[in-house]
Amino acid sequence: MVRCVDQIEVIAVDQSGKTAGVVSRVRNMVQDGTLREGDALPSTRALAAELGVARGTVVAAYEQLDGEGWIRTRHGAVARVTAPVVRAVPGAEHGRAAADVPAAAHPPPTPAAPADAPPVDCRPGIPAVTAISPRDWRAAWRAAAAAPLRNATSDPLGLPDLRAQVVAQLGLSRGFETSTDRVLLTAGTSEALSLVTEALRVHLGRSPVVAVEDPGYRTGQRAVVSAGGTVVGVPVGEDGLDLDALEAIGPVDVVLVAPTHQYPLGSVMPVARRRRLLAWAAATGTLVVEDDYDSEFRHRGAPVPALAALDVEGVVLHVGGFSKTLDPRLRCSYVVLPGVASGSLVAPVVAAVVSARRARGPVVAEPVQLALAHLLRTGAMRRHLGRVRRDYAHRRARIATRLGDVAGLEARALTGGLHAVVVWSGPATGAEVARTMADAGFLVSTLEEYGLTQGSTRAGVVLGYGALTLPELDRALDALITAVRVDA
Ligand SMILES: Cc1ncc(COP(=O)(O)O)c(C=O)c1O
Repeated sequence: MVRCVDQIEVIAVDQSGKTAGVVSRVRNMVQDGTLREGDALPSTRALAAELGVARGTVVAAYEQLDGEGWIRTRHGAVARVTAPVVRAVPGAEHGRAAADVPAAAHPPPTPAAPADAPPVDCRPGIPAVTAISPRDWRAAWRAAAAAPLRNATSDPLGLPDLRAQVVAQLGLSRGFETSTDRVLLTAGTSEALSLVTEALRVHLGRSPVVAVEDPGYRTGQRAVVSAGGTVVGVPVGEDGLDLDALEAIGPVDVVLVAPTHQYPLGSVMPVARRRRLLAWAAATGTLVVEDDYDSEFRHRGAPVPALAALDVEGVVLHVGGFSKTLDPRLRCSYVVLPGVASGSLVAPVVAAVVSARRARGPVVAEPVQLALAHLLRTGAMRRHLGRVRRDYAHRRARIATRLGDVAGLEARALTGGLHAVVVWSGPATGAEVARTMADAGFLVSTLEEYGLTQGSTRAGVVLGYGALTLPELDRALDALITAVRVDA
């Protein structure tokens, strides 16, 4: 049965906006119960004709919805709504993992690894790089190689074509509108943080003070310090950064946050707290740097738009990139500058960041930019994201089911991304568990490694599941349960 097609209105005018319009309409209709599990959606051709949009617009929207898990599309079959909506429960990412997964049978016994196998790297940060379609990957590099040679220097901000593709992608997957002239490329998130710190140091004539999450992304924090900044830790709770603690530490120049999937704990900052952070930043002239490193992957609850989507004050500098969505070795990220009003307290800082980019010069090799632009323009990136979203959701559910059955163990940070935090009630430290796991052939990070100050974390391990095969994941979970010495 095809239901309620005529209610899927498209309001936005440009192509990416139209796709986003279809996506959000269908999502809302599933969420409010207008569309139910098993309901068939119209064919892409029929819906495109109905809405007066290009068929590709609807194809792109269905791929996005499939990737997010709202519908299932199969070649030659009607697209159907897949699952009843699981609404985001406040703090759910900190609850027992078993609470938000369907009851599932135990996995079959895990096949043993070959005796001489190298250690399996389960540390966070490695996505499913090999999941990209080889044909799409080769086509992108062929396109890059076929670009005419030029006797010219590269634009230090990045190729306008790639920046325009990034703008379209952000509208679709992160819910905010921006423009090409507000996007500049960096060599990964660390270079973005180093660039912003350097810009501020030059602008202020002193070491900029950067408030960071504790526990948080230590590599990024080190980039800030190497560029001459001073970091100050702010505790993180179930709702993300503790704003009372932030306001209590006195004036800072920058706040660095990952509000959509705090790293590593996974907390999601609720809208009210986001609004309070933005209002405080606007009043105090503080720049908020949003690290949106893995927000394309949201496994439970409705997608969470970027903090930048709420930024009417013009204080958020958004940092995203291709390290989690594609391959960290590409070393390509982007900074989206806020649209600042003249007279705004952060306007000179934003201008300083652009000047610093021009002064440092281009850092992302132009063939890499050309290949990425091709992957985005042709829809290959969207297809890839759809595929890996399903894989990650599957692995995440495996972790939740497997560890949810084990008394004394708790898996967290599972609402999105591609890592899990595992904590336990026993006396073992993270280092002890990591060592036992390493002896069994599995490398994990300890939760304690992410603390800026002593005692800011409890004992735990952080396990990246993006690049693991299911048998590797099963064996890693077996090793983890044994290492913590609790009964499976
Ligand atoms: C919190 C966080 N931000 C950003 C990144 C991406 O870093 P880069 O863009 O330098 O590869 C990572 C990668 O692991 C991360 O964990």
